[in-house]
Amino acid sequence: MANKSLFRVLFVCLGNICRSPMAEGTFRALVQGENLQDIIGTDSAGTGSWHVGSPPDRRAQGEMASRGYGISDLRARQVSRADFDAFDLVLAMDYDNLEDLQNLAGAQYEDKVRLFLDFADGEAADEVPDPYHGGPDGFAHVLDLVEAASRGLLAHVRARLDP
Ligand code: 4NP
Repeated sequence: MANKSLFRVLFVCLGNICRSPMAEGTFRALVQGENLQDIIGTDSAGTGSWHVGSPPDRRAQGEMASRGYGISDLRARQVSRADFDAFDLVLAMDYDNLEDLQNLAGAQYEDKVRLFLDFADGEAADEVPDPYHGGPDGFAHVLDLVEAASRGLLAHVRARLDP
């Protein structure tokens, strides 16, 4: 699906079971709400391989469901070099993810690799913090940040599609 779109966004975290599927699900819902799902494609991946094939963490699914987003269909995969060709933006949740992606991508693709929160207007944080080892508040905080950045990201993508 993502590969047939005009503009493709890949969200990347460490495990691809918490932050990046929450980002994908939130941005996907915004895109669908604007009826742009045939134009803007979404996917997510992890820099690590531990959770490949798994659905999102149940705490992530629960927080998403509490705000009306469904992500039970998503399955974790590991990011690969081919993703830098396939996607127009590859968005890191934190600086560790950013560094791993930059090392994998090489200089040729550096413009595509960004911090997701670069798109969160007025948001003080640079990083979406890893909620995996913390309590439920961490997931609510992740979703606050992800919702803010998703709105800014959609405005950015719209401007690039229709300058
Ligand atoms: P995520 O969270 O990167 O937001 O998916 C994590 C999930 C799993 C692990 C670390 C972070 N882990 O170490 O298994």
